[in-house]
Amino acid sequence: MNLSGAGAQARPADRPGVSSGSVASDQIRGAYSLIVVANRLPASQVVQPDGKVEWQPSPGGLVTALEPVMRASAGAWVGWSGSPGPAPEPFDADGVRLVPVELSDQDVEMFYEGFSNGTLWPLYHDVIAPPQFHRHWWEAYCAVNERFAQAAAGQAAQGATVWVHDYQLQLVPALLRQRRPDLRIGFFNHIPFPGYEIFAQLPWRRQIVEGLLGADVVGFQRRADVTNFLRACRRAAGARTSGGIVRVPERADGGERDGSGEVGASKAQGRRVSAACFPISIDSAAFGELARREDVRARSRQIRQELGDPQVLLLAVDRLDYTKGILHRLRAYEELLDEGRLAPPESVFVQVAAPSRERVLEYQSLREDVEAVVGRINGEHATLGQPAVHYLRHSYPREEMAALYMAADVMVVTPLRDGMNLVAKEYVACRQDELGALVLSEFTGAADELGSAFLVNPHDIEQTKDAIMRAVQVAPSQARRRMRSLRKRVRIFDVDRWATDFLRALNGPDPDSHSVGSRLHEG
Ligand code: F6P
Repeated sequence: MNLSGAGAQARPADRPGVSSGSVASDQIRGAYSLIVVANRLPASQVVQPDGKVEWQPSPGGLVTALEPVMRASAGAWVGWSGSPGPAPEPFDADGVRLVPVELSDQDVEMFYEGFSNGTLWPLYHDVIAPPQFHRHWWEAYCAVNERFAQAAAGQAAQGATVWVHDYQLQLVPALLRQRRPDLRIGFFNHIPFPGYEIFAQLPWRRQIVEGLLGADVVGFQRRADVTNFLRACRRAAGARTSGGIVRVPERADGGERDGSGEVGASKAQGRRVSAACFPISIDSAAFGELARREDVRARSRQIRQELGDPQVLLLAVDRLDYTKGILHRLRAYEELLDEGRLAPPESVFVQVAAPSRERVLEYQSLREDVEAVVGRINGEHATLGQPAVHYLRHSYPREEMAALYMAADVMVVTPLRDGMNLVAKEYVACRQDELGALVLSEFTGAADELGSAFLVNPHDIEQTKDAIMRAVQVAPSQARRRMRSLRKRVRIFDVDRWATDFLRALNGPDPDSHSVGSRLHEG
């Protein structure tokens, strides 16, 4: 994303090819026909060492997938700049309108770190960490969701399509529909949607479900998420469901219903909302191109050299998050070393752990625990100049990641729960040599699609150890067979396909067109 225009003031009406239509002016709130609403903008504000504030693009699959379609259809992106404080003015970047939403210091603490990442994140990831329920966090969540809904309503042209993303903004669909019933509204949840027994812990479960049901299409990563959501619709909001269609009662009066979905004849004939799965993916071709670049290939060879040309290079890449199973994985590796099944310097393990949500207590404790375990393993098994675990608490540019993926013999992706896990797909997309092996947790969305990986239950340390050893020792012919099948899946179902399928389901003439998305993604 080119940010050269950042800061320039461009009003929607100035944009070529954008018409405000013929609706009365008090009904027109904006001029953009496709609006993405996400917690973060595709660019972040960063304070330089000299105090100057600059915008830096945050390249990611979502931006790559949506940029062309947003450019073609007069798109705007509503989101947070990543810095607390007053929102900068909207500006154009590469033909896309970026509309910053303000988060104060208190919002960051109570909405982002609090309700989003201290309540919803652990709740939706199988309560791996205990979720905290605080009424003032909920109030902040409601207030910030209102702000996002208002910003989106202010940008959308009559009849525009608005695509809302992720758990931070689950109330936005309904808030937006109240303001702008003319809009076509989609919602996509990037993280898992939990089983009802877990979801039901949330004191505000009904409000969350009703917030989501403001959308026309609610998309999830896995079929299991759709099933969980449909059950929550019946149990928490008293809605009737049939297949992937939810009948939203005309007037949700807040009463808890029984599982029968009995809500009375007139209300039961309400609006239809589709729920379906659309597994997200990566820009596979772009990773393929990176992997073909001579400088990236040279860097990949250099990495192996710098690591002492090991016989086996194991790689793990995660955000430093307790859902990623980093401690379980390190334990499995440590036991393999203790048992002499792997031995440095012939075998080397590289753990990249990108810093994340560093002010949240659980993340701080995880970091301490991971660093203690890495220290213990190296204390026991490293030799001078040859660590057993290379622990890198950094984020790296895509080129470096591609070089690491190409260097690794075995990629170990073992989260305890993960909506999708794009690292697994990136690894596969970079292995043009059709070599390398993927050890993958069955609790990732990716496992539904990548059945040719070595699948493991990461809680089962013995099974994880055996899977790592099978991946280390796999015959080249079998490795190739597995990798070819993984690559085929990732090549065909890329992020462009994901976005196209979702938008087609949202805007297609057939109200049941969501089922196309589901069918296309059968693993
Ligand atoms: O996977 C969910 C998600 O919110 C992603 O959209 C995001 O890249 C990641 O977690 C990190 O989130 P944060 O915005 O909290 O840094």
